[in-house]
Amino acid sequence: MTAQQQKMSLNPRKMEINGKTRVCGLIGNPVEHTLSPLIHNTLAGRLGHDLAYVPFPVAEDGVKAAVAGALALGILGLNVTVPYKSEVIACLSEIDPLARDIGAVNTLVRCAGGYKGYNTDMEGLYRAMRSEGIELAGQSVILLGAGGAARAVAYLCAVKGADRVWMLNRTFEKARTVADEVNGRTGRNVICPMRTEDYAEIPDGRYLAIQGTSVGLFPHTQDVVIEERAFYEKIHTGFDLIYNPWETRFMQLVRANGGRAYNGLKMLLYQGIIAYELWNDTQVSEEDALAVYDRLRTKFS
Ligand code: ATR
Repeated sequence: MTAQQQKMSLNPRKMEINGKTRVCGLIGNPVEHTLSPLIHNTLAGRLGHDLAYVPFPVAEDGVKAAVAGALALGILGLNVTVPYKSEVIACLSEIDPLARDIGAVNTLVRCAGGYKGYNTDMEGLYRAMRSEGIELAGQSVILLGAGGAARAVAYLCAVKGADRVWMLNRTFEKARTVADEVNGRTGRNVICPMRTEDYAEIPDGRYLAIQGTSVGLFPHTQDVVIEERAFYEKIHTGFDLIYNPWETRFMQLVRANGGRAYNGLKMLLYQGIIAYELWNDTQVSEEDALAVYDRLRTKFS
């Protein structure tokens, strides 16, 4: 196989870029390791859309210029990643209510005179959970963390009808602030803040646990927020937002105690699918979503 053929066989795009190709992309810093081009270019190839998706590294203080530049260049849509998910809000002409309440935007969709911002991370997590048969409505949840990611998860749980969410965090004050805010905004007294080491005070029962801290992320793969077995005995299902490593220490401990455990790769998949649906005004079938997932998985074998 020639180098060119080898390149073609790795690239699922069926179409040549031409004068009408629509462009979407990712702004963030860094963006070099992103899997989003694989998601969107695979979808475009499978669905026959004339669309190309590329990463754009944006330097500090460059978000406003990047969004204005994207608008001027006719870019159809953008994903936004760390560290710009909050900062980008000031550059939008419209914002979806869920994204506004969460205070973070990861998807920009071109609209009259600018871009409308959405948060597909949370809807992506919701779809990922449902695809694994996990329903938030009526659930008793333990949520680890009170940072940006966990705050959004807390909001999602409240909005989707979780019964109660025990939010455990190393810094109690942060958990209390987030809980007050989410409870206030949703009008549901559902988030209960707690110091991590006080987890034994959570009422007996079996819980869905969502790991929303950065603890355990590559290369610190042996780290975990709670080690004790007594904690994992409370958990029937563990969902880690991390997908690198493929199986976190948190997931290992959940499984060792008989629970089911999932990583965050399906959340990544579905946040991308939802963004793709918004940009192309289409519905992606589960078959196409899972075909993309199979390609994503190969990055972790
Ligand atoms: P993100 O946007 O990824 O959520 P973040 O806002 O910095 O990142 O939040 C990181 C979360 O991981 C916080 O809940 C943080 O706990 P604190 O609020 O106490 O800082 C948690 N975290 C980070 N390192 C931790 C560690 N070594 N042990 C326990 N929790 C940790």
